[in-house]
Amino acid sequence: MTKIAPSLLAADFLNLGAAADLVNREADLFHIDVMDGTFVPNISFGFPVVDAIAKVAEKPLDVHLMIVHPDKYVARFVRAGASMVSFHYEAALEMTGDIIDLIHEEGARAGVVVNPDCPVENLFPYIGKADFFLVMSVFAGFGGQKFIPESLEKVKALREECILRGFPLTDIEVDGGVDAANASALVSAGATILVAGSSVFKAEAPAAAIRALR
Ligand code: DX5
Ligand code: ZN
Repeated sequence: MTKIAPSLLAADFLNLGAAADLVNREADLFHIDVMDGTFVPNISFGFPVVDAIAKVAEKPLDVHLMIVHPDKYVARFVRAGASMVSFHYEAALEMTGDIIDLIHEEGARAGVVVNPDCPVENLFPYIGKADFFLVMSVFAGFGGQKFIPESLEKVKALREECILRGFPLTDIEVDGGVDAANASALVSAGATILVAGSSVFKAEAPAAAIRALR
């Protein structure tokens, strides 16, 4: 079954409790975007906010690290309550395998992310080692951007390679500009986790927006 992961980046930060309620009731995962102002030209939030969300979360925390040196911080995010931690291949390069190991040692599921300009083939060596992959369908850094349709081909290629290598059930997450208009094409292409920020939290009725995505 497809999992829906609302991105709290698009929530009203003065009412994060209400956002958490919504995810606890309607969604499958809390998607939490951590940005450092260096890997991406934006700064979002860090440990204290993740700690606060972890206190109320009844669904797993899916922490998406858009930071340089992810190896330095994975342990703290897992200890803050993350069950899934993803980091960018572009920020890790030849350290990717070691960082996956690090996340596993901390007891969380490990995901590797590629931005739209990073070939999806870079993920292939980690099939069977990473627990999930995240294909960015906008450039990491900001919510509210337009979905890049070429992402569908990347998801398809990755799903085919997972099948070819004997790991057909590997989760593939898609993040950026996801809405009810592209959700079914993404799932047909092989996506199993849909991140949705604006299409959920900027909707008049966020709960209905989650149901529409589903
Ligand atoms: C972008 C973040 C996304 C973002 C998605 O860098 O990784 O998770 O919050 O927001 P929407 O759904 O508005 O594109
Ligand atoms: Zn994200």
